[in-house]
Order: sequence, then structure tokens, then C-alpha cells
Amino acid sequence: MVLRFFPQKEKYTPDESQFEFDPDGNLPKHIAIIMDGNGRWAKNRRLPRVAGHKEGMETVKKITKHANRLGVKVLTLYAFSTENWKRPADEVNFLMQLPVDFFDTFVPELIAENVQVKVMGYEEYLPEHTQKAVEDAMEQTKDNDGLILNFALNYGSRAEIVSAVREISKLVETDQLAADQIDEKTIADHLMTGFLPADLRDPELVIRTSGEERISNFLLWQLAYSELYFTKALWPDFDGEHLEAAIAAFQQRNRRFGGLNEEEKK
Ligand code: IPE
Ligand code: IPE
Ligand code: MG
Repeated sequence: MVLRFFPQKEKYTPDESQFEFDPDGNLPKHIAIIMDGNGRWAKNRRLPRVAGHKEGMETVKKITKHANRLGVKVLTLYAFSTENWKRPADEVNFLMQLPVDFFDTFVPELIAENVQVKVMGYEEYLPEHTQKAVEDAMEQTKDNDGLILNFALNYGSRAEIVSAVREISKLVETDQLAADQIDEKTIADHLMTGFLPADLRDPELVIRTSGEERISNFLLWQLAYSELYFTKALWPDFDGEHLEAAIAAFQQRNRRFGGLNEEEKK
């Protein structure tokens, strides 16, 4: 019998790797990722959960560079949800310190790579040092016009929809807008993705790591027609190969948007 000091669970390889990634094929302009499994990654190594978050930060760096080099326009990363405040205070504090450490070490590389940092979420509820870190990163990268690295931080989609409804209602209340004028664009404009150009607001591809197959209050409006890709890989284990496997799976999907493709009409 072989005794292993750290019994490691199987490390998952890209699930749908039977598809070949085509670098010249259809590339999603906007990819959104639910970065999940940091805690389990740490637990598998008998480390505290926060060690998984720290390692997950390294994955963010790698995946950002990889996505940028592939030519992806927007990478939205779900970093902290409005529901994650329910976690123990120590873990929440660690997660609120992460952007400080992350941007401290990574902003020069982001500038060199022409990446623009954006943050969407209820920023005003973040601790001051976290707010400052994200504000500085946005300011320092604002002239870059490569990949938009968009962090969903203290983000929740139901809260986002409530805020949008309130904003639109105020416009109606003050006679700046008639109720009949409200259309899908009005709503999209008032969601937190409203800062993005209209054709980049909705992710074409949503990836969730760690084997969970749910949305967890992420981009409920925006992913009406997104392709969903679930992988068992834990976020700290996710790498460029996994990303390409997800895109390869996307390239095989038949996106109909309720209609039919040309060859299906025959
Ligand atoms: C994702 O990893 C990171 C955040 C939600 C902040 P988790 O911390 O949810 O990891 P698991 O799901 O417990 O493994
Ligand atoms: C979703 O992961 C939120 C983030 C990745 C930031 P969770 O781990 O919080 O989701 P649930 O609780 O499993 O649905
Ligand atoms: Mg989780």
C-alpha cells in the first residue's frame, strides 16, 4: 500500500477536451467566469480555506493574460457576491484584502499588457482599503484599450435589478421618461454592465468551475442567451488549457437565439 502524506483528489483535466480549440474560429468577445472551488482546493491539501483564495488569485493573473492574448474583449470575473458576506468574518476580511495584494503586484503587468480594469458591484459597502485598491487600479489602467478585466465585487444580480428598477422609476416619477418608453435597452442601460458598449454587455460564454451547476445570482438578465460551460476543475487548478477547452466547447455549440440557422431552414 502506498501511503501518501497529502492524499490528493484527482485533478480534473478539461472536461470537453474532445473538441479541438480553433484559434481562428469563433471567439467569444465576452467571457464571464464564476470562479468557484477555492475552499475545496485548500481542503484537499489540508490548508485553510484562505490558502485557496490566495492560489485562486494566481489563476486570475494567468487567465487574464491568456484571455487577452487570445483576443477576448471582456473578461468578467465573479470575485465576491452580495451573499458572500454570510461567510466567517476572517474569510471575508481576507477576501477584502486580496484586491489590495492583487493590484499591488499585478498593475504594472496589466499596464504592460494593455488591460483595463473595471469593477462592478456595490463598491460603497467595501472596506476603504479595498475601495482604494480598486479605484487606483481603474485609474492606473484607464487609458488601456485591450482586454477589459471586469471584476464583479460585492455584486448580486437581483440587487442589481432592484437598483435598475428604482433608477428607472425615478425617471418616470420626475417625468423624464414615460412608462411606455421603457424597453429592453432601458433596462440594459441601467444594469451594472451598462458601462460596456451595447454589443459587449452580455457574455457569450459563462464558465463555472468546481462542478457546481448553478448561477448563484450572477448576471441574470445578461445571460439570457449565453452558452454555459461547467467544469469540475477547481478554480486554482484552472489554466489556459481549461480556458481553451471551454472555448472549444463553445465553438461546437449551435446558437439559434430562438430561430434556425441557414442550413436548418432548408
Ligand atoms: C470561490 O471559492 C471564491 C468565492 C466565492 C469568494 P469558494 O470559497 O466558494 O470555494 P468552495 O466552493 O468553498 O470550494
Ligand atoms: C459564487 O460562488 C460566488 C463567487 C464565485 C464569487 P459561491 O461559492 O458563493 O456560490 P454558492 O454558495 O455555492 O452558490
Ligand atoms: Mg463556492
